[in-house]
Amino acid sequence: MKTKMNRRHAMQHQGALFDVPGIEGARWKSVCAVGEYPVTHPSPRTAVVLADALRWMAEAPENSIHAIVTDPPYGLLEYEDKDHDKLRDGIGGVWRIPPSFDGANRIPVPRFTVLTAKDREHLTTFFQAFAFHALRILVPGGHIVIASNPLVSTTTFHAIETAGFEKRGEIIRVVKTLRGGDRPKNAEKEFPDVTVMPKSCWEPWGLFRKPIAEVTVAENLRRWGAGGFRRISGEEPFRDLIECAPAPKSERALAPHPSIKPQKLMRQLVRAVLPVGTGIIYDPFSGSGSTLAAASAVGHHAVGTERHPSYFAMATGAIPALAKISIGDSDDDGA
Ligand SMILES: C[S@@+](CC[C@H](N)C(=O)[O-])C[C@H]1O[C@@H](n2cnc3c(N)ncnc32)[C@H](O)[C@@H]1O
Repeated sequence: MKTKMNRRHAMQHQGALFDVPGIEGARWKSVCAVGEYPVTHPSPRTAVVLADALRWMAEAPENSIHAIVTDPPYGLLEYEDKDHDKLRDGIGGVWRIPPSFDGANRIPVPRFTVLTAKDREHLTTFFQAFAFHALRILVPGGHIVIASNPLVSTTTFHAIETAGFEKRGEIIRVVKTLRGGDRPKNAEKEFPDVTVMPKSCWEPWGLFRKPIAEVTVAENLRRWGAGGFRRISGEEPFRDLIECAPAPKSERALAPHPSIKPQKLMRQLVRAVLPVGTGIIYDPFSGSGSTLAAASAVGHHAVGTERHPSYFAMATGAIPALAKISIGDSDDDGA
């Protein structure tokens, strides 16, 4: 039985929603119908599902997804109820308000230096389970493009690799963050020349591929539509270095999620992961829907799961507006 919300939104786009020719249409329909979860369709090619990612993935059809592009909870605990409740105040747990030297109000950011050995074990188990399901639902040659943080990426990436994915490199996103660069706490004057951790200026995105099923990449591209990345143009290959500032104020106003990713970055990634230009993208941890909005903007089908009801509602409302943003016009003033 589908929910009222599902029926209402499906009716809004009746006709257009599953209007995809041939086998791709059937596949999109089956992906949208997974389980008995509330689903909204903010645009004809987009589905947002209120569900736990691992449960949804366990029920999704085999070989139905062409690529996973996601910005997961890096340390897991920051989006668990106990720590997520502390986000409002920025006090305690993993969320901290970075020191302000210019009088400007800072928003809380998760600090992964607080992770214990047990938290890291949990991180490994979680991402092994994620990769186990991803290996089944991705088509052969399908990629995972997954954001992380230099303090936890080795743990996350190792878990995905040992579950059976090929590591295909990392994209380095050059971005100034509010992490690191501080003098020793309560001894700033005593050690004016010391920085405890380097000021963080980059973000790793792990690249993984489900092994191809055909003898060559060309054959795999023909049969499964996956195995490589779409070039930027005839002259320019897709590259593993992308400079991109945090989401600008205009995007954060539309989707006030603490971890929103900018459209400028997400549109480059979602375009690149469908090498032949068609297929279905999945974002397991969709938050405010920035991946889904980017996919909608470049004309791709995308489904996302989000387990927090308020972020699910935020994504449903924000995706059409985020998808309409013109990158050239967007202000690069993110903090
Ligand atoms: C880092 S945020 C993603 C933010 C997103 N990239 C954006 O631009 O808004 C991770 C999201 O995953 C959600 N989440 C955490 N665990 C989840 C799970 N097991 N299943 C589905 N969603 C989950 C959190 O509620 C959070 O919104």
